[in-house]
Amino acid sequence: MATALIVLAAGKGSRMESDRPKVLHEIGSVPLLAHALASGRALEPSRIVVIAGHGAADVRKATTYWAPEADVVEQTEQLGTGHAVAQAAPALEGFAGDAVVLYGDTPFVRPETLQRLAEARAHHDVVVLGFEAADPARYGRLVTEGETLLRIVEFKDASDEERAITLCNSGLVAADARTLLSLVSALSNDNAAGEYYLPDIVALARDRGMSAGVVTCDESETLGVNTRAELSAAEAIFQARARAEALGSGVTLVAPDTVFFAQDTHIGRDAVIEPHVVFGPGVTIETGATIRAFSHLEGCHVSRDAIVGPYARLRPGAELSEGVRVGNFVEVKNATVAEGAKINHLSYIGDAEIGAGANIGAGTITCNYDGVFKHRTTIGAGAFIGSNTMLVAPVTIGAEALTASGSVITSDVPGGALAISRPPQEIKPGFARRYFQKLRTLKDKRG
Ligand code: UD1
Ligand code: CA
Repeated sequence: MATALIVLAAGKGSRMESDRPKVLHEIGSVPLLAHALASGRALEPSRIVVIAGHGAADVRKATTYWAPEADVVEQTEQLGTGHAVAQAAPALEGFAGDAVVLYGDTPFVRPETLQRLAEARAHHDVVVLGFEAADPARYGRLVTEGETLLRIVEFKDASDEERAITLCNSGLVAADARTLLSLVSALSNDNAAGEYYLPDIVALARDRGMSAGVVTCDESETLGVNTRAELSAAEAIFQARARAEALGSGVTLVAPDTVFFAQDTHIGRDAVIEPHVVFGPGVTIETGATIRAFSHLEGCHVSRDAIVGPYARLRPGAELSEGVRVGNFVEVKNATVAEGAKINHLSYIGDAEIGAGANIGAGTITCNYDGVFKHRTTIGAGAFIGSNTMLVAPVTIGAEALTASGSVITSDVPGGALAISRPPQEIKPGFARRYFQKLRTLKDKRG
């Protein structure tokens, strides 16, 4: 059956104390919204509708990036979760199938759980995802009778007896799309918050002779982010999961607690990640590669058996082929480094192509930026770039060429040639001895 996802992301998240809409705060280097979309994707939805409100322009931009196929609908006034779902109606006009409501600020719902939620629709018209809360706090309470869900009562509206219930509402709901939209359009806001509560659809559905049921999951999955403290707690949970996943898939993490992952980090079997490595978004490390301690990587691809670090920085567009070495205090950006090339010490390589087996000497810099434009440096296979060479781009060094240490290279060097560009050396015999003698005598005189 076709499934539509409705992702609620209009709330301000006042308790974040932020200018940024809550759903754009990040865990594992990607917005909460992207996590919600990623877990929702497990249902292979044929439609995705994101309800935006606070910071709608930014939420739209993020949605376009993470789910280009999604519709973004604006809820101009945040009148409650039920009202938010109702905004999806025009976008889902003519859609036949189930709708699953997700919250943009609830990043950890597992795909398997969503699947169980969707499957339970075979038995109930409305299915709610619930959880046993260690501390039910301000969550909505699920009022049940045996297997049947009678209604959901919000904390603010609950009696003492209802507040004693520990089975709580995660907020996630599945129902036939048309039924859901019909139910939310009939909600009232006659309650403690004066809001249109999505959870009220349960009682409404039962009034209409439909059935409602609960699927439960672990509380850790329903964790919502409302404050910075919860954001950091959620980050810690994410990192713990990512580390466990990496270890489980055959990656060596020497000190797992010191390695930080992004949501989309891919690491192959038998890769070794030393302590204190940070992966930003968009990193792929292939099997057998080693990332040595204190390296920072984002937007890059490290091929088999390459060795990176310690203390290396790979920035977006760094593409390292098999067996490449990038050593300490080396930064690589928007550059392809072909098989077996070495950049071992203290270099900046940006907007460049490095040929196979080239050796880039210590301290080499590609001077790629003229203050306005960026320019490319091309280095041929087997070239030997002497230490402390400044490559003023645009410039091409031919295959197997050699640049003398300390050279400033401003024009192309043909293959196999030597380029030397530095002042010639002068020797003054005995000068140093005489010079220091003179200075020391002067010092003695002054006392
Ligand atoms: C909601 C549920 C509560 C449940 C809890 C779980 C309601 C009335 N209550 O409470 O039963 O236990 O989640 O975390 O639904 N949003 C909009 N537009 C709005 C209002 C909210 O898009 O007009 C979005 C928010 O951005 C957020 C989500 O809906 O992503 C939940 O809203 P929030 O205000 O956090 O609901 P809770 O009070 O936590
Ligand atoms: Ca919430």
